[in-house]
Amino acid sequence: MKKNGLRIKVLGISGSPRKNGNTEFLLSQALEAARLVDPEAVETELYSIAGKKYLPCIACSACAKTGECIRSKDDDFNDLRDRWLEADAVIVAVPVYHMGIPGQLKCFFDRLGNSLWSYRGSAGKHLKVYGAIAQGVHIFSGQENAIKEIINHALIMGNIVISGDPWESYIGGAGWTEKVSGKDALKSLYEKKSFDAEAAVKSARSLGKRVAELALIIKAGAMHYLNRLEKDPMFKPFVKRIKQG
Ligand SMILES: Cc1cc2nc3c(=O)[nH]c(=O)nc-3n(C[C@H](O)[C@H](O)[C@H](O)COP(=O)(O)O)c2cc1C
Repeated sequence: MKKNGLRIKVLGISGSPRKNGNTEFLLSQALEAARLVDPEAVETELYSIAGKKYLPCIACSACAKTGECIRSKDDDFNDLRDRWLEADAVIVAVPVYHMGIPGQLKCFFDRLGNSLWSYRGSAGKHLKVYGAIAQGVHIFSGQENAIKEIINHALIMGNIVISGDPWESYIGGAGWTEKVSGKDALKSLYEKKSFDAEAAVKSARSLGKRVAELALIIKAGAMHYLNRLEKDPMFKPFVKRIKQG
């Protein structure tokens, strides 16, 4: 990493309860393309929710008093929340579940939003660059809907959503495993040069590339405009992150 100057962290969240599956395959493609934008400036992390526990929000409103979720003493919420807060860019990848995102991730989003929103001073613009990826076992079976759920979450948290390049990426990265449900279905279809799997990989890679580029641009701009940003309380979480380097 560069000793001085611009550096960004891209956090990839795999929302599959299966490790090393199709979600991680597409997410790894996106993260590799992100790193290649500038290997000295772009740090990436793939964080899997597999084996982790995210309890649902119980609407107790305790977080409004402290900013902390009381359920986090019993699960893995804080670990991912802290990584999320540090990240300059986030790529969320999911397997489609019931036409949407898996419940574990929904539980995380609910509590992230509520604990950061309801505590005075922590709501505001995070200005993380966001990308979304979804793949499922079937075609036209919820990929766009799952991506929209991730996009809505990104927007409500004051972030900036970006897509990859045409024609493969309209609103994010997407694919299907051509009715094969194994963990390595997409990877092996890609190795066999399946047209659809190649399109899925292209959509994920162009998304990763564009996410990293925009995150670098935004961070450079933020460093330039820090004095101005500090005057607006809505930018508090963003300014805090920029100052932490
Ligand atoms: C509970 C559950 C619900 C699912 N719902 C859908 C669905 O609505 N549409 C779809 O295409 N695939 C669905 N799938 C299949 C997964 O999205 C698919 O197998 C995916 O490739 C798994 O990704 P992974 O290998 O990263 O776990 C579902 C799987 C499970 C376990």
